Amino acid sequence: MKKMENESDIVIFGGHGDLSLRKLIPALYHLYSDEYIAKGSRVIATSRHKVSRDEHLALVREKLLYFLEPNEFSEEKWENFSSQLEVVQLDLGHKESYEALSNLLREYPERIRIYYMSTAPSFFGSACSALHYWSLITPASRVVLEKPIGRDLISSQKINDEVAEYFKESQIYRIDHYLGKDTVQNIMALRFSNMMFMPLWSNQNIDHVQITAAESVGLEGRQTYYDDYGAMRDMIQNHLLQMLCLIAMEPPCSLEANNVRDEKVKVLRSLRPFEGDDVSTKTVRARYTSGAIGTQAVKGYLEEEGVKPESMTETFAAIRVDIDNWRWNGVPFYLRSGKRMAKRNTEIIIQFKEVPYQIFPNTGHTISPNRLVISLQPDESIKMMMMTKIPELSEQMNLHEMSLELNMPKNAPRTPAAYERLLLDVVRGNPTLFMRRDEVETAWKWVDPILQAWEANEVKLKNYSAGSDGPTSAIAMIERDGRSWYEE
Ligand code: BG6
Repeated sequence: MKKMENESDIVIFGGHGDLSLRKLIPALYHLYSDEYIAKGSRVIATSRHKVSRDEHLALVREKLLYFLEPNEFSEEKWENFSSQLEVVQLDLGHKESYEALSNLLREYPERIRIYYMSTAPSFFGSACSALHYWSLITPASRVVLEKPIGRDLISSQKINDEVAEYFKESQIYRIDHYLGKDTVQNIMALRFSNMMFMPLWSNQNIDHVQITAAESVGLEGRQTYYDDYGAMRDMIQNHLLQMLCLIAMEPPCSLEANNVRDEKVKVLRSLRPFEGDDVSTKTVRARYTSGAIGTQAVKGYLEEEGVKPESMTETFAAIRVDIDNWRWNGVPFYLRSGKRMAKRNTEIIIQFKEVPYQIFPNTGHTISPNRLVISLQPDESIKMMMMTKIPELSEQMNLHEMSLELNMPKNAPRTPAAYERLLLDVVRGNPTLFMRRDEVETAWKWVDPILQAWEANEVKLKNYSAGSDGPTSAIAMIERDGRSWYEE
């Protein structure tokens, strides 16, 4: 793989926030140590508070020691990486306060500049306007926008308009970190480099698709944000719909960014809009009550500190999605995501149809239709569940289900974290794994009516115990269609 030759300046707005310290800086530490980012490139964190460089280094070191695996940290790598770290104090909403940043950036006017907005979206516009005020937006500058981009179509258009005043679309990188996960990228490799899947990949052979993103964690200190957003806006509108697009899209004519994004946006435009009582029969919203994750007792959502007592925010959402096009007509996609579920589990199930006629005797063994299981978390794996003969001398031929597995060998090199891949792609100037404006807006356009119906209480907010598999109404939703959630 080509390593980077050009130096860049990477500015993280909200540099002392949770995302920056937990994900971005560790990812940059790896990229820098593995020389994917050119030596001499700087990582400039901005902070609201006055912080000396020494204090900044001490904080970053402490967090790296906490978030990296023990064998990933070395004094030598730290020496090199830390020599490139800078911190500046600024108040995102006050352009006058950007002077120190401006002075630092002006030392290298030709460099690629990356402005990473790891802040609340309400600051994106003012930060871009301040960068413009100090003439810091050069042709080699790129801006990275963290999700969520808005709470609905209108607010997302407003944010996109504000940023577009200063940056061209080709300079804007909208992050959905799921797209940086290796297994998510592997969906394209699996589908478009293996001929065996192509003729099977449609309503002719596939019965339905399930996409689950279950987390055992709760709010992780992000209650102020989460209580305003909820599972639909936090996970489904972006991460789950992006996975759905990769499963459902037509083969792009190349891997060039716009060719891939054109195909994804076509899927989003084909999602069947919710009408009439669809919302009450095809969606479920719920929030967790107190319970236990393993042996640890946990509070209910409304007891969490910082959650408004009158909150109606869902921590779980399930939805049946239909895609109105030739390939997928009649194949439902069931999506679900929740916090404080029994276990962390993110997976995609492609459930094939039953064989048209059964010649094997029914000996009490169920003959299960084939299933392709793409697991993202906790472990990454791809399994094809198939029926095979039990090796025995019985008079009748008995079958059982076994899996063909595509797993990385245990001693394989470390899989890079999603943010490493994405940050490196921004440095390289490759927007393929980032969302184009029309993708984000088309997703909101489809999600908005569901959120509006929920706000109008057309679907009751259900409860589920923390540590369970979610509300029974999500089970009922899929069972009404004669199907069930796949639980291993
Ligand atoms: C983020 C959400 O985008 O994704 C979080 O805001 C969620 O609420 C996280 O916990 C899940 O990411 P991952 O990579 O741990 O599945």
